[in-house]
Amino acid sequence: MSSSPNRLMSGQEEPTPGKRPYSKWVKFGIPVVVVVVIVAAVVGGVVGSKAKNKNGSASSSSANGGSGGGGHGGSGGGGGDDIEGRFATATASEWMMPIYPSTDSPAFATPTFLPSPSAEGVWPAETFQPANPDILTTRPDRPRLIAPSYKWAALPNLINNDPYLQGWNDTIFGNATDYFGLPPVVYHMDGASGILDNAREIKMRIKAFAYVYRLTNDTKWVDRTWDELQNAVSDSFGPSGTGKWNPAHFLDTAELSAAFGIAYDWLYSQWSDDQKTTIRTSIIQYGLNNGVDALTTGTNGFWTTNTQGNWNCVCNGGLTLGALAILGDDTSGVAEKVLGLTVDNAKANCAQGVTSDGTWTETANYWYFGTTGHAEMASSLLTATGSHYGLLDTNTNFHLTGLFHMYAYGPTSLFDFGDHGPNKFSTTANSLFLYADQYTAPEYALFQREQHDAAEPWSMFWYDPTVSGAFWNSLPLDRFFDDGLDQWGSMRSSWTDSDALFVAIKAGKLQGHQTHNDLDVGDFVLDALGTRWAGEFGSGDYLAPDYFTSDAQDAVRWQYYRKMTEGQNTILVNRANQNVAAAPTVNHDSSGTEQGSSTVFTVPDGSTAYWTTDMTSAYFDATSVKRGVRLLNERRQVLLQDEINATGTVDWRMHTNATVETSGTTATLTRDGQTMIVSILNPPTGAAFTTTEPAARYPTDPTPPAPDQPNPGITVLIISLPAGQYTLEVLFSPQWPKSLKNDGVIPPSVALDSWSLTSHN
Ligand SMILES: *[C@@H]1O[C@H](CO)[C@@H](O)[C@H](O)[C@H]1NC(C)=O
Ligand SMILES: *[C@@H]1O[C@H](CO)[C@@H](O)[C@H](O)[C@H]1NC(C)=O
Ligand SMILES: *[C@@H]1O[C@H](CO)[C@@H](O)[C@H](O)[C@H]1NC(C)=O
Ligand SMILES: *[C@@H]1O[C@H](CO)[C@@H](O)[C@H](O)[C@H]1NC(C)=O
Ligand SMILES: *[C@@H]1O[C@H](CO)[C@@H](O)[C@H](O)[C@H]1NC(C)=O
Repeated sequence: MSSSPNRLMSGQEEPTPGKRPYSKWVKFGIPVVVVVVIVAAVVGGVVGSKAKNKNGSASSSSANGGSGGGGHGGSGGGGGDDIEGRFATATASEWMMPIYPSTDSPAFATPTFLPSPSAEGVWPAETFQPANPDILTTRPDRPRLIAPSYKWAALPNLINNDPYLQGWNDTIFGNATDYFGLPPVVYHMDGASGILDNAREIKMRIKAFAYVYRLTNDTKWVDRTWDELQNAVSDSFGPSGTGKWNPAHFLDTAELSAAFGIAYDWLYSQWSDDQKTTIRTSIIQYGLNNGVDALTTGTNGFWTTNTQGNWNCVCNGGLTLGALAILGDDTSGVAEKVLGLTVDNAKANCAQGVTSDGTWTETANYWYFGTTGHAEMASSLLTATGSHYGLLDTNTNFHLTGLFHMYAYGPTSLFDFGDHGPNKFSTTANSLFLYADQYTAPEYALFQREQHDAAEPWSMFWYDPTVSGAFWNSLPLDRFFDDGLDQWGSMRSSWTDSDALFVAIKAGKLQGHQTHNDLDVGDFVLDALGTRWAGEFGSGDYLAPDYFTSDAQDAVRWQYYRKMTEGQNTILVNRANQNVAAAPTVNHDSSGTEQGSSTVFTVPDGSTAYWTTDMTSAYFDATSVKRGVRLLNERRQVLLQDEINATGTVDWRMHTNATVETSGTTATLTRDGQTMIVSILNPPTGAAFTTTEPAARYPTDPTPPAPDQPNPGITVLIISLPAGQYTLEVLFSPQWPKSLKNDGVIPPSVALDSWSLTSHN
């Protein structure tokens, strides 16, 4: 088979931005609607709406012939497992992960976008082209946000021809029906001292109501949307006055601006003039005016200069959706003013939230919020004006962020280091569909279309049904992310086996993450046999005193168990927190093993990967601390090795949900009916496993200003040693079924600096 130009190739080559043709109509700045407007700033990047002109792969068509489901549905299921032509046959109830059928069928091609198979299976081309490239002009028809009318017109046919769209449409109708029966979202302050939960739940509902209205023409959905809008501006909702949408916590203001913008635009033809005036006035008074304040005077605007994360994306994104929705109808000029500010601000900040290796600067969970805000903003600008003004490519590494998400996902769940963030509601991983399309990265769409959160209205317009193939085909099992800010590695035994072994481990810097990280250099998670053996706590209590105030060495944040080094799966020296100025170095290698086209994958002999870090700089009382992890025995076992020379006590710590029994240098972990044996090889004198409760603090720990959250069900597995010099070799042996060749290996003892791909053969 010849390779497609679109595939994610071996040797970790990446999708590249801008492969698809862009029209070049915009040369400068932020056009703004109505007839003519300001060009606020010179904007490079120059990209416009994308023409439909996809590269196909000749070799893939034979493997994808005939069936719907983006080409592989019919043939791919390996028999009767294939529900509705979608590939994954189910979603695991505990982990909400797709379950892929086992099939040796080589019927899965390399990821690609096929040439249009038929008019029914492909989006029509965008015909809107602004007349004057220097002026921001909005398309003449509505909707203009994310889903233009030509897409709505084509949608029923696409739904009928694509099993993914069909399933998502059904789910959205079901969800909308559920929300319909509920009272409007009741105002309450949530766990992050804001009304963000309210705002996102309202947005989630409005998207679903407006979607279903447009596919049914049943005005009961318009009326129900109106109730939800009225509620969100009523006397009983939110703080009082123009602060009703809580601009002090600007995310809330932005998400409600987006929600109102979508309602205004998607249901435009249904609103009376009075209703339009009410919605517009609300967007301006509670949303955009506060946005202009933040962006020009800095009031409630810490996010306007913040490159570290999701806030800038969510805030600029929400304001942009609200402004684009009313542009032209707004006689106050504020919508235009907002657009003259948000685009440049988001390019300078939001777009920088992705590091040089594609990692989101905050955490793997905050990736969802940042990319949802970014994708909504880019998509709305594209559909409303014909250009994203460089938002998608001003950071030339942004396109890698889909790989960050895919590699951070283990067989059970995310490598969920640091804070998890608030409830997601309208926030999903569906930015992957937009990025797949815009960055010509078909594997992003193929991955996401199997996930449980794929069913929501944005997917219906961002998903391109001509995508075809298997995301895992030719995808390397391992990837290393080397930006100094994050430095982490992801290694696994399969992309499609729910029981696969997975290790992810990190070093990186401990500041520069929007105060969402933990003191966690050396921290890791481990999955095997369908469960998680070493895991994370996630967020502490966001309302606890000084939880976010500082990430300096003496910050109160680091007194909370879930955030301090003690609460991580790493080495603790002198029972003290790591040094926030740590600047670790990393080294790694991989056999470069790729999964083939089949979901049944046998790891070849010699296939391995390792990642090591010199994390000495993270410790105050050690002359050297190095940690390495490697896969052994054709990726069936894991060796975690630490080389420590410390002047303070040494504690090796790991947090697990498993039931733990220890006996000297062996610990037996059981969870979900499976067993993992953990053993200390070549144990130094005095080394043995013990266990303790999480948050059983050492007497030397400071007392935090608020009590720690309880961590029910978690056990800490520990090796405690006095100051000294040690090599700790901890071997993890999942007890695979006998049929999977369960004769575990005992690896040789090799110094970390001498590790190579063959050092443990
Ligand atoms: C979308 O789903 C609803 C509910 O299942 C169904 O009634 C409707 O026909 C679907 N739309 C299309 C275009 O198939
Ligand atoms: C939407 O419906 C699906 C399928 O019933 C369900 O799993 C999901 O939880 C619903 N989502 C919400 C937000 O209610
Ligand atoms: C809804 O109304 C539009 C515009 O009149 C029409 O094109 C469309 O076919 C209608 N859809 C349904 C499901 O009746
Ligand atoms: C314990 O299990 C829960 C639920 O699966 C998971 O979210 C959490 O990360 C696990 N904690 C640890 C320490 O493994
Ligand atoms: C361990 O550190 C001590 C200083 O604390 C130093 O004297 C000793 O040489 C170190 N050992 C090695 C092998 O580097």
